[in-house]
Amino acid sequence: MDKAKLQSTAKKLFIEQSKRHVFLCIGESCCSRDVGEVAWEALKKELKDRNLSLSDSDASCYRTKVGCLRVCSDGPILVVYPEGHWYAEMTAEKIPEFVERQIVKGEAIPEWIFASNSLTSPT
Ligand code: FES
Repeated sequence: MDKAKLQSTAKKLFIEQSKRHVFLCIGESCCSRDVGEVAWEALKKELKDRNLSLSDSDASCYRTKVGCLRVCSDGPILVVYPEGHWYAEMTAEKIPEFVERQIVKGEAIPEWIFASNSLTSPT
């Protein structure tokens, strides 16, 4: 392991400054490829335009595109940590409101959430 290289990469990605981590599934078992890709591009754009990606802002957010979160329906499925809220049908049209309410204001959007688990430490 090249720890120095990895630490340099982590620094560039603001991994240690991020306040939240969003995983967006664009797998074809929960949404069409087009719907998923458009949602992912909308998430990237919204976070970038608000300076929330690769930043140390109070609402900075790391984002990860994934191929399956094992729910496999009503996608795109999105989960955000540390809250652990699971969102369904996160199409591109919903992304700006999601970023404004959940990421910027820290408010859940109950009508879009189907499960919650903040993964608190077992110890
Ligand atoms: S393909 Fe999206 S949750 Fe499985």
